[in-house]
Amino acid sequence: MAGRRGRNRDDDSADAPPKGKLNKEGLHTLRRLYRYFRPYRFLFSVALVLLLLSSVTTMVFPYVIQQLLDKALAQAGSGNLAPINLIAAVLGIVVVAQAVISYFRVYIFSWVGQKAIAHLRQDLYRHIVELPLAFFGRSRVGELSSRIASDVSMIQDTFGTTLAEILRGILTFGIGMAFILWTSAELSLVMLLTIPVVIVAAMLFGRFIRKLSKLSQDKLAESVTIVEETLQGIHSVKSYANEYYEQRRYGNAIQQVLRVSLKAAHHRSAFVAFIVGAMFGAVVFILWYGAGMVAAGKLTVGELVGFVMYTFFVAGSMASFGQEITQVQRTIGATQRVWEILDEGREPIAPPDAAAPMISLEGAVCFREVGFAYPGAEEIPVLQDLSFEAQAGQRIALVGPSGAGKSTVVALIQRFYDPTLGSVLIDGKEITTYPVSALRRQMALVPQDVFLFGGTIRENIAYGKLDAGPEEIEAAARQAFAHDFIAAFPQGYDTVVGERGLKLSGGQRQRIAIARAILRNPRILILDEATSALDSESERLVQQALNHLMKERTTFIIAHRLSTIRAADTILVLQKGRLVEQGSHEALLAQQGLYAMLARLQFDSESV
Ligand SMILES: Nc1ncnc2c1ncn2[C@@H]1O[C@H](COP(=O)(O)OP(=O)(O)O)[C@@H](O)[C@H]1O
Ligand SMILES: [Mg+2]
Repeated sequence: MAGRRGRNRDDDSADAPPKGKLNKEGLHTLRRLYRYFRPYRFLFSVALVLLLLSSVTTMVFPYVIQQLLDKALAQAGSGNLAPINLIAAVLGIVVVAQAVISYFRVYIFSWVGQKAIAHLRQDLYRHIVELPLAFFGRSRVGELSSRIASDVSMIQDTFGTTLAEILRGILTFGIGMAFILWTSAELSLVMLLTIPVVIVAAMLFGRFIRKLSKLSQDKLAESVTIVEETLQGIHSVKSYANEYYEQRRYGNAIQQVLRVSLKAAHHRSAFVAFIVGAMFGAVVFILWYGAGMVAAGKLTVGELVGFVMYTFFVAGSMASFGQEITQVQRTIGATQRVWEILDEGREPIAPPDAAAPMISLEGAVCFREVGFAYPGAEEIPVLQDLSFEAQAGQRIALVGPSGAGKSTVVALIQRFYDPTLGSVLIDGKEITTYPVSALRRQMALVPQDVFLFGGTIRENIAYGKLDAGPEEIEAAARQAFAHDFIAAFPQGYDTVVGERGLKLSGGQRQRIAIARAILRNPRILILDEATSALDSESERLVQQALNHLMKERTTFIIAHRLSTIRAADTILVLQKGRLVEQGSHEALLAQQGLYAMLARLQFDSESV
């Protein structure tokens, strides 16, 4: 829960991907991404060449400076500027070339990274929405959106930037070391005995500090969770008058954040002091030693300056290796998570064009000794030995205590899941013989809790038939008794609803869902407690709308209201996943069983 929102991609943020191992398997994981970069491999190679060029020119820089200084010292007092001007001109050209090359190098790398990653992101999204519901049962939505957003961004960073930096680092290190050794083996030895020690110490210190700052981030995330929870549940906070309790809870959390953050600040300051002291100390030491060599005539001034500059380059590349390796490890982790999703089996859905044969159903549904358990909870049977038959055009009511399996039955009809045992037949054929999408396009569901997409009312209704024209949409809304309240809004059908828009009441949302279902014109209609959350006025309207909708189609109704159930052709009474009674309202009442009892309990208030 902690830190779901407000994420950043800091190395150690709460939901940064786990570090992957930098071994053969890890590299293989990364290599699978090649498919996305393949179309750009030519440009990528160009960028690599530019990288090589720019690294080499950078590394020539100190050498030219070295020449400049030595020439200047050799000419000291002579007034002859020609050699110096020549070298300065060369330096100037190097600078300009460097700038131009860098522009193209950085731009091409990011361009390739962005292009490839846009493709990957789209593939990932496409794949996720095609995954079966069972997958969403085991994954958290927040986590999935984080895969699309931050994991993929991490891959993008690595391929757009880090990879280039690593190559550059290797080149810088190699060329720099070669120059240093070539300039003076003795001074190189002195350098190698000091600088790497300082760098390793700095890395260990840095790791310790990152742990501390991770701790303070985690604490902060906890406090953010408190804020989120209280604000989301502000109704409950207020109605229980627990403002002071929440204030104290948040106060405690903030104190903890403060304590850990101050400790981290303390260590961070020490770290900076260490870097300044140790790094510059090492440089002073090398300069001192080198100056001695200059005095002894073993080194020129230019060579010493060049040496120190190369030392900075070499040290810089060593220092960033650590971070870059961590980044690559995290990218392996991120990539593994991405492949995990892409390797999940999709539902056999089909695109809504000619490729998917439009089937046209009669709408008969038959369950034959169906047994079912939810994936991941196989030991809990939800439906057992369930058999029933619904003729095309019939109204079937499902009744039973909550948790009896009513919603599960209609989930199987929509083939959100496949039965564990037995079979579901549609029009006498196994449900599995139909293309899933074609099947679902012949069905419509009006649930208890209608979800409206962020967008206009028009768009929300058109969700039932994406190519519906304005008249069609309005006609559907009229049939759903939704037109009047929609027309009363200043913006009418263009009123924006959803998370950022106007809040509609439960009854209004349900009528929009019914309009959606009317547009779809399904052969099989499923009403899962479509009226249970309504007040009696809107229920009356919704009921009228439903009566319209139920005509001439097979309808499964899960409802509490007697009026709805009484009109059904068959009532199926479920208890603990088993069919315990079935028949018409009168027949079931006469049986004096579970239905009669439920009827007495639930419907009493209505009959008076
Ligand atoms: N996605 C799911 N994963 C695991 N178990 C579930 C899931 N949905 C429902 N269940 C379980 O299946 C049983 C039947 O649920 P459901 O069909 O929703 O009952 P009803 O609609 O009759 O109230 C319940 O015990 C419920 O806990
Ligand atoms: Mg239910």
